[in-house]
Amino acid sequence: MSVIEESLIEKTQRLSRVAAGTALDELDEPSARQLAGALRPVVAEHARLYYVQDTPLITDGEYDRLFRFLSDLEQAFPHLQRPDSPTQRVGGEPLDEFTKVQHREPLLSLSNAFDADELRAWYERIGKVLSGAGLDETPALAVELKIDGIALALTYEAGVLNLGATRGNGRVGENITPHVRTIHSVPLTLRTDTPPARIEARGEAYMPRSAFDAMNERLVEAGERPFANPRNGTAGSLRQLDPTITAQRPLAFFAYSLGPVEGDLAVGSQTEALAWMREVGFSVNEWVATVTDIEEAIVYCEEMGARRDTLDYEIDGVVVKVDSFALQQLLGNVSNAPRWAVAYKFPAREATTRLSAIETNVGRTGVIKPLALLEPVEIGGVTVSKATLHNEDYVKSRDIRLGDLVTVKRAGDVIPQVIGPVEGARDGSEQAWAMPTRCPACAQPLKREEGDADTYCVSAECPEQLKRHVEHYAMRNAMDIDGLGSKLAVQLVDAGLIMALPDIYALSVEQLLELDKFAEKKAENLLAGIEASKTRRLSRLLFALG
Ligand code: IVH
Repeated sequence: MSVIEESLIEKTQRLSRVAAGTALDELDEPSARQLAGALRPVVAEHARLYYVQDTPLITDGEYDRLFRFLSDLEQAFPHLQRPDSPTQRVGGEPLDEFTKVQHREPLLSLSNAFDADELRAWYERIGKVLSGAGLDETPALAVELKIDGIALALTYEAGVLNLGATRGNGRVGENITPHVRTIHSVPLTLRTDTPPARIEARGEAYMPRSAFDAMNERLVEAGERPFANPRNGTAGSLRQLDPTITAQRPLAFFAYSLGPVEGDLAVGSQTEALAWMREVGFSVNEWVATVTDIEEAIVYCEEMGARRDTLDYEIDGVVVKVDSFALQQLLGNVSNAPRWAVAYKFPAREATTRLSAIETNVGRTGVIKPLALLEPVEIGGVTVSKATLHNEDYVKSRDIRLGDLVTVKRAGDVIPQVIGPVEGARDGSEQAWAMPTRCPACAQPLKREEGDADTYCVSAECPEQLKRHVEHYAMRNAMDIDGLGSKLAVQLVDAGLIMALPDIYALSVEQLLELDKFAEKKAENLLAGIEASKTRRLSRLLFALG
């Protein structure tokens, strides 16, 4: 930007003043046209700073006022409406059907590598092809996260978005232009005075994890079916014939490559392409990097694998690409995938298996948690045979039935959870499940308050609750009673030695010796541990009592 040009903030302030002091019914056409022309790029730029850069320059309130003024102006002078206006992210008319689009160049898929050695083997193979062509250098690589979403191809003519298409089968996709316009991180116009005549940007539509969870909550509240995962949520939101529904879904987009370009564009590598796309207004993932060889790429893959759970979007691996376009061209494609790129796949976090039964467990507070008993299945190197079903509504809203083939997810440290049924695999033998009406431990009636997702056993005499209480009371960060873990808590309650928490302090060596696997030494140690707990601070006692 040149020094004489008015800065964005000055323009914004001037337009805000104009907006505040202008009555739309007194505005003549030429002034309205001029005002709309000045407002559009300013509103679009603030939206970019907010949605793409995550560094807003003005408050939400200031933005809303400017946006509303532009929107009112376009309503008052409908002939000034333009599809690339920042006000046009609302969806528009429903479609009768999706029309097909032939991609100018196919969207290829990627070959996979599942460990470091497979990455090295790929790098060696391309090294051979290059040295066969007389090139002995080892090629630099662009490394990127492999976003687990839906691939899109976006065409801009003279800098204006005029086609958004799904990947489809790679050659023919579906025209979802009105839907794509609703995605705030997709630029409607490119931020450049010299756009190429036509350019295609490719990337991944996705849903941030946090926004996905919130969306599912809203769907459940509205009595609608939640989505199994962010990828399904993305696909389902783009597949709506009515794009106004898409507009209400928290979709986002990361650009990751250039498709065919017509006209001038001085970009010679993937790294330069990403920098250009970021420059002209696309959201490019923050973790993209350029490395000198495959060993550095492997380090990147390991680092990103460790970072996976901390990201607010799902990734299923890393894409490693030869950086130079000239070398990419030289390497070419093998059938359906480029030879110059490879996807390093992380271990899967989801698997499908049979739901054999649903058990209910009683927690310390009396909360009843349904637990899925599964045919054992391996997920990312761990065998999973139990998974949480959270609560009654979770099972109902997802229509999870006994005997269903279900998708199970295990991510990071969290307890595995059942994501939902594979409905297509049903044979009619599956049975609906209902929350029991009585406590599985004490047979007292269960209660669920209006507006509460959880069901409780409210009996003061429930032995399961007491076991969880004793266990919690003795925990390291509570009263820290050495030797009193969950197994012993169960034993003590079952034997009738503890009927309420204070009974812990009345235990004797004689009583303990009657328990299975208890010798004098162990009993004395436990009593010493109980004695020591008497000196804990009040704050610990309060926590222990819950
Ligand atoms: S490059 C020929 N880069 O992964 C190059 N793809 O099998 C092909 N994907 O469905 C694409 N993140 O949508 C590339 N940073 C990234 C990617 C990425 C996700 C998806 C892509 C495609 C699949 C490739």
